[in-house]
Amino acid sequence: MAVIEYQHSAEDITPAQLNGFFVGWPNPPTPDVHLRLLRNSDAVMLAVDTETRQVVGFITAITDGVLAAYIPFLEVLPAYQHQGIGQTLVRRMLERLQDLYMIDLLCDTDIQSFYEPLGMYRAVGMCARNFARQSGQ
Ligand SMILES: CC(C)(COP(=O)(O)OP(=O)(O)OC[C@H]1O[C@@H](n2cnc3c(N)ncnc32)[C@H](O)[C@@H]1OP(=O)(O)O)[C@@H](O)C(=O)NCCC(=O)NCCS
Repeated sequence: MAVIEYQHSAEDITPAQLNGFFVGWPNPPTPDVHLRLLRNSDAVMLAVDTETRQVVGFITAITDGVLAAYIPFLEVLPAYQHQGIGQTLVRRMLERLQDLYMIDLLCDTDIQSFYEPLGMYRAVGMCARNFARQSGQ
């Protein structure tokens, strides 16, 4: 099993380390756009394979720094799933955000059971999507 290290900054990451994400997206962001969204997020946690130096999982948060945070992205590359990386990313991000009142995310119902052991609970939400802007370009 790969040795994974976790880091809370994308400053030293290059686009070449960001491959294979946004699985199933018809119009995915390029690695350059991916890196931009990581760097522009208020908080980020990355899982890096110490051997290949590839990023294999990431989570981001945006926050007002007073009461609220939103987690727009969590993804672990398929080949690295079911090793506890996703749980570790969420746990570390929740620790980073622990001084805030509310931490929200949207997810499908079949993944709610992934978040429950991490201390989150089910809620109902709404969203809007501009699919013409999905790639961020
Ligand atoms: C969701 C995701 C991040 C989980 O990452 P992961 O590293 O595989 O998660 P973990 O190994 O920490 O999972 C621990 C446990 O959570 C549960 N779990 C994991 N993925 C799950 C899923 N997709 N649905 C429901 N439960 C899940 C399982 O019980 C798992 O234990 P197991 O491996 O013994 O079955 C990963 O499946 C992923 O990137 N999915 C595609 C993107 C996505 O859906 N992101 C979330 C957006 S809201």
